[in-house]
Amino acid sequence: MGDSLTRKIIRSHFDSGTMTPGEDVFVTVDQTLTHDINAVMTYLAFEQIGLKRARTEVSVSNLDHNLLYIDFKTPDDHIYLRTAAEKYGVYVSRPGNGICHMIHTCRFASPGKLLMGGDSHTPSSGAVGALAIGVGGMDVATAMTGLPMRLTMPKVVKVNLTGHLKPGVNAKEVVLEMLRRVTIKGGLGKVFEYVGPGVLTLEVPERLTIANMGAEMGATTSIFPADEVVKKFMEAQDRGSEFIPMSADEDAEYDEEMELDLSSLEPLIALPHQPDNVVPVSSLREHPVVQQVFMGSCTNGSYSDFAKAALVMQGHHVDENVQCTAGIASKQIYKQLMKDGYLDMLIDAGVRILELSCGPCCAIGQVPPTNGIAVRTSNRNFRGRAGSPNANVYLVSPETAAATAIKGTFATAFDVMGPDVGKLASVHEPEHYFVDDSMLIKPLSEEEAEKVEVIKGPNIAPLPVPEKPEKDLSCRISLKGRDNISTDDITPAGAEFSSMRSNIPLMSKYCYNRYDPEFAERARGLGKSIIIGGENYGQGSSREHAAINPMYLGVKCVIAKSIARIHKGNLINHGIVPMLFENPEDYEKLELLDELEIVDFPEQIKKHEVTVRDKTGDFSFKCKLDISDAEMATILDGGQLMHLKKQLVDRGIIKE
Ligand code: F3S
Repeated sequence: MGDSLTRKIIRSHFDSGTMTPGEDVFVTVDQTLTHDINAVMTYLAFEQIGLKRARTEVSVSNLDHNLLYIDFKTPDDHIYLRTAAEKYGVYVSRPGNGICHMIHTCRFASPGKLLMGGDSHTPSSGAVGALAIGVGGMDVATAMTGLPMRLTMPKVVKVNLTGHLKPGVNAKEVVLEMLRRVTIKGGLGKVFEYVGPGVLTLEVPERLTIANMGAEMGATTSIFPADEVVKKFMEAQDRGSEFIPMSADEDAEYDEEMELDLSSLEPLIALPHQPDNVVPVSSLREHPVVQQVFMGSCTNGSYSDFAKAALVMQGHHVDENVQCTAGIASKQIYKQLMKDGYLDMLIDAGVRILELSCGPCCAIGQVPPTNGIAVRTSNRNFRGRAGSPNANVYLVSPETAAATAIKGTFATAFDVMGPDVGKLASVHEPEHYFVDDSMLIKPLSEEEAEKVEVIKGPNIAPLPVPEKPEKDLSCRISLKGRDNISTDDITPAGAEFSSMRSNIPLMSKYCYNRYDPEFAERARGLGKSIIIGGENYGQGSSREHAAINPMYLGVKCVIAKSIARIHKGNLINHGIVPMLFENPEDYEKLELLDELEIVDFPEQIKKHEVTVRDKTGDFSFKCKLDISDAEMATILDGGQLMHLKKQLVDRGIIKE
């Protein structure tokens, strides 16, 4: 039996471990990426590790998320990130160059490379046949040391695509349909590998859209073959010499298989407040007034996405009740849209062109009004993600977003264009892109880097370092959460909060503030505490602040029914023990402020089974630890920073 593309790439980067699904495998990492609202912690950690230079082929620090500069904090962070990048041999993608995933896919990723990025949508670069995995910021710092990285060997799911998309139907529909079938938890521990004749009908940015939102299924990543389409794309980016054909063997064996006929898809919409809450647009019975439409983001910010949206809007104007904005994913795309006249069409239709950044996707601007309805082409519609706790956010394709902006309520390209919808099939990616890397700052030589002074503004506070698990833990429950708590619930998005991410003492005051405004004070008052969660705790964004802030506030463990992959890694990295109810019904018995006791905690951790006594309710219950030996070692060392230093000392890479 042959190998899938996923297994081929893991095999070619294999260091140790075993390639059996669910087991630990250690791999060498070629490339890393970070972005501005998560990266300060990554570079502070790298600085504490004490290495002089990143030991990867390529590491990129993207300044792309928060370009509002509402006060001194973010510009200070950007200066820190730029000088840290210069010090450690890292590329900088300057503000205005575009969104990290589009930049990485277009300018850095290539077939067969293994990329780890400090953002959950890193899998976007699977569009060109790279194995691209989203991890926490501390993991990126680890990857930058060149040490082999631990990965839970994923199952590989073959997704056989047939047929082709109809005009007015976007790659977004492919991934929304996947989400409808697989759900937000169904991808856990899996890589979705797209194969079949339908793949050849999809251009690279369409593949990017699909790979991008594999993150919403909780998948390790998604990947497409490096075929003729990728070759053409890389040649159009003047990177043809970096292309190598790569695909699964004809007789590749997969752990699971799915079929998806592209021709069968119609415009879909994810209803509030989860991206898997997907129905056909045509099935909606109510057509309320939509106040906001946002087109773009890393998910649907490509040239073709905007060209198609422009054609839907041509000859029409945005409804007077709608604020319609566009967040184009890169300068390269912006210039091409300008040259080809599509930008004019969008502006003529009343679209407001925003900065080339993440912006509204993470609540940095364009917050919906009270109880507002917002329709977006981005990837998440969790409650609060758009910056308002009571807004209703719907996820759609650019074609549907454009039609909705015109009609003022849910509508598709068919509703606006009628039989002319076929015109959309004429849109293709450019034969040759504007290649201009003047907004990328290249790494300095080692001699030049020696002279760089890393500049830290007053908002940049030291990285807090957790303690090892104590022998006998006795503390109260500081929060009992529902199912599907997202990292947005734990650490709010938005310009104001994003600019605090370099200062944990400050930001921790806002931990859980939209979900339970009294949590931070309560946890601080308790000194140490335990959080209780439902299913899929910590889903969504990879932001490790959702682990660092609770750790800073004294949270020692999270006990949940299930914990999302990246968040579990972040909890371990930052010294919070992630535990699962052995019997999920025990969740119901626990109450806020119950006093819990765990004796011989480190010894119980080693057995992967922990007995917890609820002294308030006078009962005991069992928890299990679904962690590998390597993760256990990290926990027992008191988090990844201390664990990593120990490993680097052992290997003689740094001195004690
Ligand atoms: Fe940025 Fe939103 Fe993508 S925050 S990286 S555009 S998910």
